[in-house]
Amino acid sequence: KLGHRCGCWCLRAVAEQLSIASPCKINLFLRVMGRRSDGFHDLASLFHVIDLSDSMDFSPLASGETKDRLECDMCGVPTDESNLVIKALNLFREKSGSHQFFNVKLHKVVPHGAGLGGGSANAATALWAANELCGRPASESDLLSWSADIGSDISVFFSKGAAYCTGRGEIVRNVPPPLPLDTPLLLVKPAVGLPTGQIFKQLDLDKRSSADPEALLNRLSNDGMSQDVCVNDLEPPAFKTLPELADLKGRLQHEGGGKFSAVFMTGSGSTIVCAGSDEVPEFLQEEAYSDVFVSPARLIMREEGTWY
Ligand code: C5P
Repeated sequence: KLGHRCGCWCLRAVAEQLSIASPCKINLFLRVMGRRSDGFHDLASLFHVIDLSDSMDFSPLASGETKDRLECDMCGVPTDESNLVIKALNLFREKSGSHQFFNVKLHKVVPHGAGLGGGSANAATALWAANELCGRPASESDLLSWSADIGSDISVFFSKGAAYCTGRGEIVRNVPPPLPLDTPLLLVKPAVGLPTGQIFKQLDLDKRSSADPEALLNRLSNDGMSQDVCVNDLEPPAFKTLPELADLKGRLQHEGGGKFSAVFMTGSGSTIVCAGSDEVPEFLQEEAYSDVFVSPARLIMREEGTWY
């Protein structure tokens, strides 16, 4: 819905409400390069946005309102200041000088504690929407650099969709799509999620891969997906925390009927990504897996100036 909101002879038509998708990401490989003095870790990771998405509705509240309102339909998701969406809207006002508050409805599909960056994606989407609804006071590169203040893997959503990320994850380098966008993917996540901070804390730096991340990027782009390219240094601490995740990965590798070219964990888990097919292996019908989240997915990209 478009209309003039400023009440003056302003020529810019500003949207009055926005309903947009909030897609999540996977890490095609994730190398941890070292521990930093600020408690974070330096990463070198190939992120890709995928089409598994929440949906979000944004509308500006009347002037004079001084508190954002967030509603979410998924149990257990906080809707107070601890939610990254509210943090993103606070950040937007602080950086842009806007006094606009918003009503936000969040329809969740992406599971929590999954390594899919669902909460970070919602924060990125909120920054994007607030900027649109206020007549674009900020550029995309402003939004990208601001986002690092509230999380490490929000910036990637302001990339073109495929990005080699370093630093805490917030230094984003766009790369050409490393794989055909129609590469079938199957996401498999046990009911238990994993807390990112705890997985990083449990990481034993001696148990990391020694692969050169730039070489992984080249191999992936030139030769496609294979098991030894889809390295994730956070698998050992995640598997130690949740041993059934290692079993799940093993079964997907061995009982996937040879259809998957690679089976690997994304982010800090607990989602396992199977690449090359989205056919659900038969063993996932067993009673023991009845509460497992299973979803097909595809890689997606973004055109500058548009959201996904
Ligand atoms: O930045 P974000 O809030 O997503 O990070 C959650 C936690 O994960 C951090 O508090 C930190 O303990 C850990 N982390 C890390 N190194 C990174 C990203 C996250 O140690 N590059």
